[in-house]
This record gives sequence, C-alpha cells and structure tokens, in this order.
Amino acid sequence: MSATTPLRAGVIGLGWAGQQHMQGYLEAANAELVAICGQEGDVAARLAGQFGVEQTYREVSDLLRDAQLDVVSIATPTSLHAPMAIAALDAGVHVLSEKPIAENAATAAMMVAAARRNDRVLEVSYNHRRRGVVTALKQAIDDGMLGKIYYAKAGWVRRQGIPGLGTWFTRKDSAGGGPFMDIGVHMVDMALHLLGEPGVSAVSANTYAEFGPRGLGGSTGYRGTSAGTTDYEVEDLATAFCRLDDGGTLVVEASWAQWVPHDLCFVDLYGSEAGAHLQWGSPTSGDGGELVIMTDVQGRPAEIRPQIPANGGHSACVAEFCDLVLSGDRQGVDGSLSLTRAGLIDAAYASAAQQREVLTTQPEIG
Ligand SMILES: NC(=O)c1ccc[n+]([C@@H]2O[C@H](COP(=O)([O-])OP(=O)(O)OC[C@H]3O[C@@H](n4cnc5c(N)ncnc54)[C@H](O)[C@@H]3O)[C@@H](O)[C@H]2O)c1
Repeated sequence: MSATTPLRAGVIGLGWAGQQHMQGYLEAANAELVAICGQEGDVAARLAGQFGVEQTYREVSDLLRDAQLDVVSIATPTSLHAPMAIAALDAGVHVLSEKPIAENAATAAMMVAAARRNDRVLEVSYNHRRRGVVTALKQAIDDGMLGKIYYAKAGWVRRQGIPGLGTWFTRKDSAGGGPFMDIGVHMVDMALHLLGEPGVSAVSANTYAEFGPRGLGGSTGYRGTSAGTTDYEVEDLATAFCRLDDGGTLVVEASWAQWVPHDLCFVDLYGSEAGAHLQWGSPTSGDGGELVIMTDVQGRPAEIRPQIPANGGHSACVAEFCDLVLSGDRQGVDGSLSLTRAGLIDAAYASAAQQREVLTTQPEIG
C-alpha cells in the first residue's frame, strides 16, 4: 500500500486518549480521519458525528480489512497495543501507538520486529515532550548552555489521581504496572530525550501500594470509558535510581496517590555550566508550565525565565507522525526508542521485586 496525501487515518480506542488522536487528525494538514473503532457503540456514533467520520467499527480486524487505512492510532488498554499494532503493521498500515509502547520490553520487541519486516513506521505518542517548555530546554541543551549534564531528576506526582480504580488501569495483566508505567514513562522519555539518549545500564527501584488496595486515591476527574470492577494489582508509587552509560544519574519518581501538596510534573537538570528546572501542572506553573535556567552573571547567581507558549500535545505527535510517514524516511522510526523506555521500566519493576540493583537488558528483536 502506498501512502498518498491525504493519508487515510483511523483511530482505535474511544476514550480520552483516542479522542486526542481524532482531534490531531482533524487538525493535520495531510491526513483525513476516515474510521474509528471501539467497543462502545453509542460513543462511537457520537464521536463519528463530532469528528465527521463516516465509518465506525467494533472489531479491529474489520477496520483493517475494510477501511483501506494508511495510518492508524492505537489508544486502547496497554496490553492490546501489541496485538493491534502487529496486526496493523502486517496489514501494511503505519502505527502511532499510545504510551507505554507495551506492557513489557519483550512484547514491545515484537512490535519493533513487525515494523521492520513490513518497512512501516511505528511511533509512540509522547505528547508531553512536545510541550513548549521541553522543546525550548532541549534547544538550550543542544546549544551547549548547560554543559555536561551529570544528574537529572524527573517526576510526576499526584495527590489523588489513580485513573479508574478497579478498571484495566489497575490490573497487572492489562496495564503492565501502575504510575511508573503510566505517567512515569512520560518523564523517563522526556529526561532521556533531554539528556541526549544515554544508555541506561542499571536501575535500583522500589514500589509501594498504600492507597489503591484500600480503595483510596482514585481520581475524581477520571475520564475513561471503563467501569471499575477488579482488585487493585499495581503500585501507586514508584521511585527509581538509574545509572547512565555516560556516568550520569537519573532519578525518577511517579505516583498516582501521595501526600504531596499538589500534583506536579518536573524535571531538574544539573550541568557543568548551568542547571534547569521545568515544571507544569502545579497551581503556580499552570498547565502550560515554566522553565527556569540557573546560571551566573559575573560570578553572581542569575535565573533565566523565558516566556514560552504551551504548544505541543497530541496534535503535535499526530502531525509529526504523518510527516514521517510521508517523508519515506524509516531510519529509527520502528519503535526501538520506546523499547529502551520499556527496558528501563522492566528493570525498575524487577529491581523492586528482587530488592536489588538490576542491569537493564534489551530483548532480541527477531
Ligand atoms: N498520552 C497521554 O497523555 C495519555 C493519556 C491517557 C491515556 N493514555 C493511554 O491511552 C490508552 C487508552 O487510555 P484511555 O484512558 O483512553 O482508556 P479508556 O479505557 O478510556 O478507553 C479504551 C478504549 O479502548 C477500546 N477497546 C478496548 N478493547 C478493545 C478491542 N478489543 N477492540 C477495539 N477497541 C477496544 C475501548 O472500547 C475504549 O474505547 C492507554 O494506553 C493509556 O496509557 C495516554
């Protein structure tokens, strides 16, 4: 199947995430949203009207057989990313999967293999790294402003934000893990991206579940489509110390429920020439976020606080994905970057279970 403009796009998953992708295709200059797929017929009908989509499907196999797609976004429970992505790639369709790529690295490796054997793009939607504050900081780093960065801390902490207590989100088999897998992956991705993609050699982590098993900490603003029915099986807080190949250290914290003053996403970078702090989601930073660069002027401490538009989000992911597909460039767009994130997360969970530092490994892509 050859990709021509406009790309024929489909979205699998009708929840909050799926709707962000639908909006993204609506805004994309070179794509047309032609089909959506999900299990809630009433929601599908409503969204079809809202986004001007003619075809709705309940089964992915029917979508892939009949809709003549060039590209598809997958925004379903995490353990369904791999089977759906592999089916789409084998049908010649380029895939933009929601994060995390899969419930573990071994499964993610099968997705990468499918992208490679079909010469198709497999991308993962890391919408938060497209934020204006993140892209501005990346530019400052690439310009050498921070010098050599040797220590990084990143986290996403929530006061009361377990998504869908008792739904697929809090089941081990369907989600793969708790906040480290769900929101920690955004911060891991962002930190490694900002640090210039160093390898991660070892991880020492701990996980806790103090709220979820007691039915506490559930998000009051949960936007999902699923109803909670099952036990709480994952962590609600994880902390990980990661040794980087270049000698640096990355510390990541992710929690869905914790006694913090307020929800917060943050990255702190310590470089030889300057430091950086970025945050968003707090009452002071707002959702657009703020970036502070710590430097000095004539030996005196000084702070740079650039005013940066929010930007980014899912629409930026979808636009970049469509551009990539049409560019024909298949270098490094096979999901292998996300495989490194999955390897780190696997090592963190293994470390917590075994109560020792664990070396990261990457499964063979075969
Ligand atoms: N990047 C982000 O900011 C962000 C935010 C929220 C969720 N997510 C990710 O998006 C994905 C979905 O999350 P959500 O909150 O939208 O979930 P959700 O539970 O609200 O929606 C899941 C959708 O998947 C569909 N689905 C399930 N099984 C299916 C099947 N067999 N065939 C077809 N459709 C099926 C359901 O019908 C539903 O419409 C997850 O991987 C999650 O981690 C990402």
